[in-house]
Amino acid sequence: MLASNKLKMTYRIGLFIVGLIIVLHTSCKNDVLEPKSPLLSLPTSPLEYANVNYPNHIQQAIATLDNTPITNPITNDGASLGRVLFYDKSLSMNNKVSCASCHRAADGFSDRRIKSEGFEDKKTRRNSMPLLNVRFYKSGKMFWDERTNTLEEQVLLPIQDHIEMGMDLGQLITKLEQISYYPTLFEKAFGSEQITPERIAKGLAQFIRAMITYRSKYDQVLEGAATFTATEQNGKRVYDLFGGQQGCQGCHGGGFLDVASYHLQMGQTASKTGAVHLDDLGLYEVSQMDSDSFRFKVSTLRNIEMTAPYLHDGSVADLLTLFSLPHHNFGMTRTEINDLIEFLKTLTDYEIIQDERFLDPFEE
Ligand code: HEC
Ligand code: HEC
Repeated sequence: MLASNKLKMTYRIGLFIVGLIIVLHTSCKNDVLEPKSPLLSLPTSPLEYANVNYPNHIQQAIATLDNTPITNPITNDGASLGRVLFYDKSLSMNNKVSCASCHRAADGFSDRRIKSEGFEDKKTRRNSMPLLNVRFYKSGKMFWDERTNTLEEQVLLPIQDHIEMGMDLGQLITKLEQISYYPTLFEKAFGSEQITPERIAKGLAQFIRAMITYRSKYDQVLEGAATFTATEQNGKRVYDLFGGQQGCQGCHGGGFLDVASYHLQMGQTASKTGAVHLDDLGLYEVSQMDSDSFRFKVSTLRNIEMTAPYLHDGSVADLLTLFSLPHHNFGMTRTEINDLIEFLKTLTDYEIIQDERFLDPFEE
């Protein structure tokens, strides 16, 4: 084989198997379908996830906010396995959806729907969440209502959710064991071909933790490699000034309070906006504590321009509408809102959504 970085290892499964499967399964709709047998295309040596040359402010975030457990550090082979799992529709009962169906790169790893559609076209209860910089949510708690304590715990739930992917873990293991590319991928990542829920969770979590954005204009400004326009600069001022006592960063920033190194993406805690959503009590549903009612996780503002619609219920179509609502207006004028939005757009990292490391490795 040629030595070039375009060199791909292609795994192919005979088409006749697919044909056979279709014949065997047309009459038993509720069975777990056989794998879809897509063509997987991965480079011979894994892409780089573990040792990325992040700028200083990201290194600092890793040093202080990282929710990576010592039992699951990112490795190139682990994250590569995670990438395959993330894009593999075989993880759903009828091979119809993958994680990426609701967490699409072009939409900041969220999706454009108010409520996402699961494997049987049923709607999810809440709006899909963006997956960028999840690693910096220090508590590690996941979902709008923070119902899991870790990302490792979280990633197995969509697979088993009766709306999202509809599998049970036993079925999943049996199914993955039949797919030609998995034994090697598990062996590379974890030293043996054995497929377990724990290993699936670890691979997926490594892949998601590697999704760090650090190439936006905002990052370049922090590094001294770019400057804000006057409008963006004013928007940043608005971001710091409005939003109650601590500004927007009181809820959306992440512990870095000195201006030189503060961040916009790392909500530390869930918070209340003052908006009341009667059909969704948020954290209260998990903790049963009155103080948690209508409290929701603050997810990242990174690539916020791409992750509409907004809020846990997807009820807000665009940023102008959001900042006109009582709970997110804070007395801002129309010009201030406009500048704020221009500033928020500097958080868009166009490179990560085209970065091979995070894109679909399957060829349809
Ligand atoms: C059918 C759509 C759908 C599919 C498929 C799906 N998700 Fe999600 N995802 C969502 C929705 C909706 C939420 C928010 C749910 C909630 O908070 O109750 C979410 C939340 C998350 C979060 C929480 C992020 C945070 O900041 O708290 C992670 C991580 C995640 N999904 C990863 C995955 C992975 C990994 C897979 C595949 C194994 C997957 N999702 C499959 C729709 C989906
Ligand atoms: C009191 C805490 C608080 C303050 C102050 C606050 N926010 Fe929020 N913000 C939240 C919470 C909580 C959510 C998610 C609420 C939900 O989903 O129902 C949110 C959601 C958002 C969203 C939508 C995120 C998404 O992915 O759907 C944006 C954008 C946003 N806030 C920007 C701002 C800006 C800019 C400011 C300052 C002008 C600000 N916020 C001030 C708590 C706050």
